[in-house]
Amino acid sequence: MLKSLRNAVVCALALGVSGLALAADPIVIKFSHVVAEQTPKGQGALLFKKLVEERLKDKVKVEVYPNSSLFGDGKEMEALLLGDVQLIAPSLAKFEQYTPKLQLFDLPFLFNDISAVDRFQRSPQGQELLKSMESKNITGLAYWHNGMKQLSANKKLVVPGDARGLKFRVQASAVLDEQFKAVKANPRKLSFAEVYQSLQTGVVNGAENPYSNIFSQKMHEVQKFITESDHGLLDYMLITNTKFWNGLPPDVRTELDKIIVEVTAQVNKDAEKLNQDAKQHIVDAKTTEIILLTPEQRGEWREKMKPVWAKFEGAIGADLIKAADASNQAQ
Ligand code: LMR
Repeated sequence: MLKSLRNAVVCALALGVSGLALAADPIVIKFSHVVAEQTPKGQGALLFKKLVEERLKDKVKVEVYPNSSLFGDGKEMEALLLGDVQLIAPSLAKFEQYTPKLQLFDLPFLFNDISAVDRFQRSPQGQELLKSMESKNITGLAYWHNGMKQLSANKKLVVPGDARGLKFRVQASAVLDEQFKAVKANPRKLSFAEVYQSLQTGVVNGAENPYSNIFSQKMHEVQKFITESDHGLLDYMLITNTKFWNGLPPDVRTELDKIIVEVTAQVNKDAEKLNQDAKQHIVDAKTTEIILLTPEQRGEWREKMKPVWAKFEGAIGADLIKAADASNQAQ
């Protein structure tokens, strides 16, 4: 009798102690991404970690895994849904399995510049898209810029005919596939981690990315030409697992939301400069000729690629395309 009472007391104490330990354990947020640290997304992830650890010390711990070191393309979304990571920021080109609406952002020559992108992302239609995957347990928390994409290749690309027959790496996006088919090139879907080697070994002859990704992945070392085409956008949606986010203690979630607003403003303010710095590093490396297009030459690319819009109008929605296009008019 005495022994079982003592056992019961020991048990209760043990449970109590482990209960306390559980309560005191910080919430771990793993943030996985595929790019280098000196890029807009890489910097954003690090700033998020810094601010969370300053303001939610002991409550939340952030672990950042750059350069596909934890999960690469294709696996990171699955990992988010399984709860193996809590934050990721895939490029907007990588959501088509979850919603066709985000294909909008891949349409070639949709946005004239990053200010137009900003206006659209802040509009009610742009904000609504952040919630477009909640039925799939994915919540969009913010848009982060990288910037406009440039074409790179081992051949000088000045007019669309120059791309004919070349193999281009594309992200997993049907729109980008069609964009290259529109100039009679051969698109090939490859994950970001495979791009450098595929360019180096000739699996593909060209690619498209903003300067910060080209430089930080050393793509310029295996590409003789970059055409400053600004033909499309590479931006991100910072996303989380809806059930995880909604299950956070309200005070923690409120503080995280505030931090995300702050980090987003910083990422979007610095992105253009990071791309311009990366461009300068490429110029200094003297590995690659940067080709600037005349308005007429750029117009030719636009004319060839823009018919792609019509192919996706049904899936994206004509109204959404119209709203995005209207954001090119400065208010
Ligand atoms: C790419 O695959 O080219 C980009 O999405 C990589 C990135 O996340 O910037």
